[in-house]
Amino acid sequence: MAMENKKLLKGKTCLITGASGDIGRSVALLFATEGGRVIGTYHKNAEKARSLENLARKMSLDVNIKSLDVANEAEVINFFNELNEKEKRLDVLVNVAGHSDRRVWFAKPEELTAKEWIEVFNTDLIGMFNCCKEAAKIMFRKKIKGSIVNFASAAGVTGHVEGFPYTAAKAGVIAVTKSLAYYFGPKVRINAVAPGNIDAGSIRWYDERAKELLANEASLRRLGSTDEVAKVVLFLASDMSSFVTGQTILVDGGI
Ligand SMILES: NC(=O)c1ccc[n+]([C@@H]2O[C@H](COP(=O)([O-])OP(=O)(O)OC[C@H]3O[C@@H](n4cnc5c(N)ncnc54)[C@H](OP(=O)(O)O)[C@@H]3O)[C@@H](O)[C@H]2O)c1
Repeated sequence: MAMENKKLLKGKTCLITGASGDIGRSVALLFATEGGRVIGTYHKNAEKARSLENLARKMSLDVNIKSLDVANEAEVINFFNELNEKEKRLDVLVNVAGHSDRRVWFAKPEELTAKEWIEVFNTDLIGMFNCCKEAAKIMFRKKIKGSIVNFASAAGVTGHVEGFPYTAAKAGVIAVTKSLAYYFGPKVRINAVAPGNIDAGSIRWYDERAKELLANEASLRRLGSTDEVAKVVLFLASDMSSFVTGQTILVDGGI
């Protein structure tokens, strides 16, 4: 019997925050390749957003990019209200957007201010939560069996000697994901991925020697690629994981 070659996200509208970033770009391209109608967001990097849109157009993929600051509650609510009016459906939300500030990342505990803690939490935890609740409202209103995937981090499980507000916020993402799964079930599933050291984003702030040390933390003795993360996100977003909710999958090469 011939195997059915059905695209995993055919007919699904997928919103991906942080699509202008390294991992978000891979998620957006993979989702569109799998037949999804992709709406991606960027915050400050309009150039990377445009380059993603152009590449998708060349590949005949359905990717549209919009601007969104997830740390701005009013903007998030407006964004989802517009989405509710303009789009027929919302099947998948992937919260990739994550705070990115080299100074805050490398700051020692005694150097960190409350303002910086709040800034990280506003994006990585509260912003993510607000997007989850607004997306779920649309999914419930339109009677869609949706799927939400949040970006946590392996550092939210193991802790890390840098990025103190970040590790705390990412641990919060794991807990909020678990809690929302109880609240959103049985209609909407919600899970998280927790990447380890991926050759992307903040890892690029390290020199080659430091990157080698990070790579050797993993049993697989290398950094992960953005595509390897995207494939796990696809599993969680699609019906392939139809009996999975409230979980966090580590994509860390075995730390
Ligand atoms: N790289 C790793 O090894 C690693 C490990 C564990 C977890 N993660 C997580 O994976 C996710 C993606 O990381 P990445 O490596 O791809 O980093 P990245 O390239 O720096 O991407 C970060 C993305 O978040 C967006 N963003 C930042 N602040 C925002 C805000 N206030 N509102 C909306 N969007 C905002 C950025 O938009 P603009 O660029 O347009 O401003 C960008 O699209 C993050 O959640 C990160 O914490 C990464």
